[in-house]
Amino acid sequence: MAKSFEIDKLPRHVGIIMDGNGRWAAHRGLPRSYGHKMGADAFGRCVRHAKLRGIGYLTVYAFSTENWNRPSEEVRGIMDLLRSYLKNADNYKKENVRTRVIGDLSQLDEDLRQMIVRVEENSVANDGINLNIALNYGGRDEIAKAAREAAKRLMAGEIALQQIDAAMITGGLYTAGQPDVDLIIRTGGESRLSNFLLWQSAYAELIFTGTHWPDFNGEHFDRALKEYAARQRRMGGV
Ligand code: IPE
Ligand code: IPE
Ligand code: MG
Repeated sequence: MAKSFEIDKLPRHVGIIMDGNGRWAAHRGLPRSYGHKMGADAFGRCVRHAKLRGIGYLTVYAFSTENWNRPSEEVRGIMDLLRSYLKNADNYKKENVRTRVIGDLSQLDEDLRQMIVRVEENSVANDGINLNIALNYGGRDEIAKAAREAAKRLMAGEIALQQIDAAMITGGLYTAGQPDVDLIIRTGGESRLSNFLLWQSAYAELIFTGTHWPDFNGEHFDRALKEYAARQRRMGGV
């Protein structure tokens, strides 16, 4: 069935807000940590599916700059799941995923930072799909970072004030060099961006689904791709 999937307009860049792990678990009388564990499985599944479908760029929201507000035990659990994923990502070179971790990594534990550097280096030559894992990521922080970089160049006399434009800000984002996000899928039933890819999503199509993230699978993914293909994007034109 998977092979017969045909679609005429595939998004180049898909963003996913992987939400609903906690509620998925609560509905089953299970701890939130179990929801995150099943969410990690869904994540692996969706990366493989996106690759199968020929998506060029996939950005997943794993942990926001606001998620530090959660109980420390939950935060630790999520970070440990990321450690496991990165460890496996390193072992399974055959997956052919070019992995990048985007966000403010300076606040992460040293061992996690080292794992990230290693996975990024070891996956440089992979060309199956570009995966951005948004970790301690915030869209506002990212735009502020780009603005600081532009201001630094201005103060150094490298550029004139008029040269600070949208293209320069785009070039200062974590996703510099990548296409804007075409489609954002949010699971878990909420209809908001929660600080995800604010700049890059200026003309993104948004799809919100009530499916909780641990339940999200290839069929759900395909449904979103079909809905995207049926949308008419005008980008301000007629
Ligand atoms: C998303 O699921 C995972 C992260 C934010 C890390 P949640 O943990 O937000 O699940 P809900 O929204 O509470 O159900
Ligand atoms: C967004 O989900 C962040 C991630 C999925 C990593 P949240 O659960 O943190 O968002 P809010 O709090 O419902 O807006
Ligand atoms: Mg949530």
